[in-house]
Amino acid sequence: MAKISYLNTPYSIKNLTLKNRIVMPPMCQYTATDGMPNDWHFVHYVSRAIGGVGLIIVEMTNVAPNGRISPNCLGLWNDEQRDQFKRIVDAVHAQNGKIAIQIAHAGRKALGTDDVISCSSVIFDGNNEADPKWQYKMPRELSKDEILAIIQQFKQSTKRAVEAGFDAIEIHGAHGYLIHQFCSPKTNLRTDEYGQDKLLFGEQVLKAAKSVMPAGMPLIVRFSAQEYGKNGYDVDYGRKIAKRFAEAGADVLDVSGGGDGQLDPTHTPDFHAGYQVYLARAIRPVTNLPIITVGMLEDPYLADYVISTGDADLVAIGKGLLHDPYWTLHIPDSPFVPKPYKVAF
Ligand SMILES: Cc1cc2nc3c(=O)[nH]c(=O)nc-3n(C[C@H](O)[C@H](O)[C@H](O)COP(=O)(O)O)c2cc1C
Repeated sequence: MAKISYLNTPYSIKNLTLKNRIVMPPMCQYTATDGMPNDWHFVHYVSRAIGGVGLIIVEMTNVAPNGRISPNCLGLWNDEQRDQFKRIVDAVHAQNGKIAIQIAHAGRKALGTDDVISCSSVIFDGNNEADPKWQYKMPRELSKDEILAIIQQFKQSTKRAVEAGFDAIEIHGAHGYLIHQFCSPKTNLRTDEYGQDKLLFGEQVLKAAKSVMPAGMPLIVRFSAQEYGKNGYDVDYGRKIAKRFAEAGADVLDVSGGGDGQLDPTHTPDFHAGYQVYLARAIRPVTNLPIITVGMLEDPYLADYVISTGDADLVAIGKGLLHDPYWTLHIPDSPFVPKPYKVAF
């Protein structure tokens, strides 16, 4: 039987040491009320900590009510939300786990709000719902003052996350949400400095987040290294984003892709096992930063192989960990199974 040789090795980023290379990527649960985490989130995240995940990243958590992709998404725009997150963080730590949180604003992909905003008035082309409540709206173009206010919201949410005890912060710059909308030539039609320099907004968000984080705490940035829709940017542009975000203070690059509504078959990878590893491989040489790769890696031997090739340092297992919180423990002959269970099995 094949042996796991790499996934089970520890990994350190600044002051954070992970017991293995397995990351639970952020995955929306759509179960919050008023942006508040509840018992669902407690059980969901703490069970993955008991399941041996090296780094759990809490789902897209938004800096403002109109930044949510549904009214049931999480938020971190007030202190009550922070205090509920602390309960989860403390419990994950008690299980010897590490936990980060993804801070985000959905921009034009927000649903359940009338105040839909973006860098430019370009509507998201992903509508496929008959019910008008779930149809995307034309976003209002942000003024410069509003842009600066949103950067402050990112900063305040990050500060609250630090206060709640999270081990790392992830800024969501991927999947067609607000930071990605600024980065993309398809959605950013501005003529001011935020249009002439499409990566400026993302840079300012990262710097604002970093300014309220302890020096030893890693800042992770998730970004789309390639768009998958018609006339989407390609990985050369993805490399520019990576370089700029690294210069802005990112400590880890979480390399994903896509975010447009309609996919262009000529600009989209086939969705096979490990389908986005090629993006990690392309981004890897641009900076010295650790790389997270993601996308249908739930075959543990494939995930182990990806680490062995050096294409990525950490592998994110999304749907695999939704289906099985104990994915790491269920790897045949798992090196992760803690001693008490070994006796019982
Ligand atoms: C239910 C669900 C919710 C998701 N929510 C988020 C999210 O909040 N933030 C994010 O960056 N990606 C999100 N994703 C994408 C995952 O993080 C991951 O990149 C994707 O599922 C591919 O990995 P996988 O093939 O291992 O599932 C979500 C995916 C799923 C299935």
